Amino acid sequence: MIVLKKLANGFAYIEIKNSSAEAKIALQGAHIFHYARVGEEPILWLSEVSDFEVGKAIRGGVPVCWPWFGFNEDKTLPQHGFARTALWEFVGGDEVDEKTTTFTFRLTYNEKTLGMWHYKFLLELKITISDKLIMELKTTNIDERTFKISQALHTYFSVSHISDVTIKGLDNKPYLDALTWKNEVQKGDITFNQEVDRVYQEVDGEIALSDKNRTIHIKNENSSSAVIWNPWIEKCGRMSAMKPNAYESMLCIEPANAFLDARVIKPQKSHTLKATIF
Ligand code: BG6
Repeated sequence: MIVLKKLANGFAYIEIKNSSAEAKIALQGAHIFHYARVGEEPILWLSEVSDFEVGKAIRGGVPVCWPWFGFNEDKTLPQHGFARTALWEFVGGDEVDEKTTTFTFRLTYNEKTLGMWHYKFLLELKITISDKLIMELKTTNIDERTFKISQALHTYFSVSHISDVTIKGLDNKPYLDALTWKNEVQKGDITFNQEVDRVYQEVDGEIALSDKNRTIHIKNENSSSAVIWNPWIEKCGRMSAMKPNAYESMLCIEPANAFLDARVIKPQKSHTLKATIF
């Protein structure tokens, strides 16, 4: 079942239910802000006080960070790019079988995007809702010049309590610590007892998020970087659309092409960042 819904302020989203899962996807940002498998707690975290307003990124779910991840050299431009707050075109949905539904969204250049980023592009997001959540973000260069992008599927995961969580699969991987801007190497699994903001490089296998009662797997393709982020107490208190204790019930694992893994795309060529969550 696919239903187009609107909040009182006109904010539009698609609600979908099939026999394996349910999800909600906003047209602004092609932003998945709810995904739960039947009979399970939601896999994605959504802030209780998130804004659902035109031009403001939803706090939670999967913001699409594109065509740059983090800050731009020009600090007047929005952090994490403009795709997450742009209105995407809903190309269509397909109820493949009773367990699987796919959606395609599209974003292309206009006067406003050319003002921020001077290239002609076509960006397509294919989302599969089944017992897996699959996201395929395809960038096509339709300009005459080569361009470079960095990007992330900035996935907020819902966890029982941040102190109960372990991330496996990044042992021995180099990372850039975005709190100190130092290059480090991961030793063992990742647990949380302070702010963590890191861009892991050379990621070549599955990442596992082990919580009290379940383990979630994240498989990335055409990507060798992943961001791990939890704002912890002080930063959480400063963040927009987050309650002071929100850091306890969320963390981000973000399949990416960031920093050393940014991608150069030649005219008429494409690159697809793919993440499978199961
Ligand atoms: C993460 C960054 O990906 O996104 C953090 O590593 C940042 O540094 C976080 O604080 C949230 O960013 P924003 O723009 O959604 O508040």
